[in-house]
Amino acid sequence: MLRRKFIAAGVSAAAILAATTGAQAQDTIKIGLVQSMTGTLAAVGRQVVAGARLYIQENGDTVAGKKIQLIVKDDTTVPDVARRLAQELIVNEKVNVLGVGITPVALAIAPLATESKTPTVIMVSGTSIVVDRSPMFVRTSFTLGQQASVMGDWAAKNGIKKVASVLSDWAPGAEAGAVFNEFFTKAGGTITETLKVPLANPDFSPFLQRAADGKPDAMFVFVPAGQAGTFARQFIERGLTKSGVRLIGPGDVTDDDDLPGMGDAMLGVVTAGNYSATHDSPKNKAYVEAIKKANNGMRPNFISLGGYDGMHVIYEALKKTAGKTDGQAMVDAMKGLKWESPRGPISINPDTRDIVQNIYMRRVEKVGAELFNTEFATIEAVQDPRKR
Ligand code: PHB
Repeated sequence: MLRRKFIAAGVSAAAILAATTGAQAQDTIKIGLVQSMTGTLAAVGRQVVAGARLYIQENGDTVAGKKIQLIVKDDTTVPDVARRLAQELIVNEKVNVLGVGITPVALAIAPLATESKTPTVIMVSGTSIVVDRSPMFVRTSFTLGQQASVMGDWAAKNGIKKVASVLSDWAPGAEAGAVFNEFFTKAGGTITETLKVPLANPDFSPFLQRAADGKPDAMFVFVPAGQAGTFARQFIERGLTKSGVRLIGPGDVTDDDDLPGMGDAMLGVVTAGNYSATHDSPKNKAYVEAIKKANNGMRPNFISLGGYDGMHVIYEALKKTAGKTDGQAMVDAMKGLKWESPRGPISINPDTRDIVQNIYMRRVEKVGAELFNTEFATIEAVQDPRKR
């Protein structure tokens, strides 16, 4: 998907410019979200939109004297669909701001955002290069590198010598694997095997068997949010929780959304993640309760925060520009923002437009009757390692 060539946008620069200029005279600020509400990564869209909607519910739908209108479009987890939707949002709906989702979608939309000068918040993508693809991009999600670098270092220093990697076969998986490999081997570890599992309808079993055959101390696993439940079931079915092979990874593999249904076999799994539903702060306690209340009991995961904090950067930027939606002015206003999120303290690096956040080492434990990722160490203000 990453290598897919961009097809020319099909809309002249003049048309896009005329469309966006028209919108600025109005009193409504339109924010278009292009998110994966159905298809392979539907679980991702559900979380990020829940986060965005909650922010508006809590902070009101008026900023700097302008009414906020949220328009959510379902890209069906298909980049070509996303590009068409973004084009319609820019030209027909005259949106002032875009909020986009998964990596392939962000890559597909980058030329449109640049050409139309539409400030665009990356609310889901975890791939390093994405934020470089348009000067209009600002990221509020995370990078897999932030988590994998911390995990690689921790594993090597905590008795894990040989690791087999099992990675969902698309850009964020490749990046998680490469960064883990770099930091783990630098700290003295060895990678025995790197296995790639298809993104759509994954069957992990044969890969797990093959990885286990090399008798590693641990498996480093990246699956996207929404696939952790399936992964855990197959990991347990293969008897791997009893084999002595430890399971480690970025936070996606013990995703808070799926974790309650994964079963006690997951107890003790260690991950490096940017958010845990048990993060101990008043802000987070309120956040978890509010998301549950508004979404039939759904537990928020790390993906939801990209939407919640994504709306925060849009609101704060509008306050700074006094409601003006000029693309460059909005992006400039987002640079350097610093605030307390339910995940902890975060900021936008003014040079890279990328998120800086704590990465937490967590262990799956039972809190009351439910499984949670309990934080046991904090690595503060982690930058994307590919841009350090
Ligand atoms: C991404 O689009 O880069 C992405 C999506 C879901 C994840 C991680 C990364 O869990």
